[in-house]
Amino acid sequence: MSYYITLSILMYFCINVVVGATNNIPKFSSILVFGDSTVDTGNNNDLIISVAKANHEPYGRDFPSHVPSGRFSNGKLVPDFIASYLNLKDTVPPYKDPNLSNDELLTGVNFASGGSGFDDYSSVFSHSIPVSNQIEYFKDYVGTIKEIVGEDKAKQILGDALVIISAGSNDVIINFYNLLTRKLEYNISGYQDFLHNNLQTYIQVGKIL
Ligand SMILES: *[C@@H]1O[C@H](CO)[C@@H](O)[C@H](O)[C@H]1NC(C)=O
Ligand SMILES: *[C@@H]1O[C@H](CO)[C@@H](O)[C@H](O)[C@H]1NC(C)=O
Repeated sequence: MSYYITLSILMYFCINVVVGATNNIPKFSSILVFGDSTVDTGNNNDLIISVAKANHEPYGRDFPSHVPSGRFSNGKLVPDFIASYLNLKDTVPPYKDPNLSNDELLTGVNFASGGSGFDDYSSVFSHSIPVSNQIEYFKDYVGTIKEIVGEDKAKQILGDALVIISAGSNDVIINFYNLLTRKLEYNISGYQDFLHNNLQTYIQVGKIL
């Protein structure tokens, strides 16, 4: 299932980073995150309508300063831990935070949105930001980085970024098996192919920027 495949992409980075920590920590310039609630650090906080919000108790009770930051967790999430291991920063801020400093922007941000997936239709129910729209925000982000440091340095920073993508569970568990609409269109293997094709398209867009 795509759920396991995307989680294993995440695990691959974790293992690499943890192994790297005991030898040579790879030199990543920044961290960029896309996906769903497994990695969202607060992009849904300001959405007017969303069933996928976590900026309220009991979330965040073990987070630094015990703030319910919008993470679907009692504490930090995997991207935060990875950013710490890489000595980039302690937490990865949501891109939708209106007060991001240049330093935060340059060391990496998070585009993930709880309730979303590789299928835009998965966000209709949760009113979240689908991965396809996260890529649109990423395009804006690239423009901002170029404004801050110039074209060449921006290419270097983006080229050396660690990218984490974690999604697929909302597509398969909620969209395909619960809402049933996609089931009229695809069987599970056809739906998996559809998700993988979308993911490939998103990665291609990211590569050409
Ligand atoms: C952003 O900064 C302004 C001015 O410092 C402040 O009024 C506002 O509350 C901040 N917003 C967030 C979401 O932190
Ligand atoms: C899924 O549908 C395709 C045709 O769209 C078919 O070739 C394939 O055998 C089906 N797979 C399963 C597991 O039913």
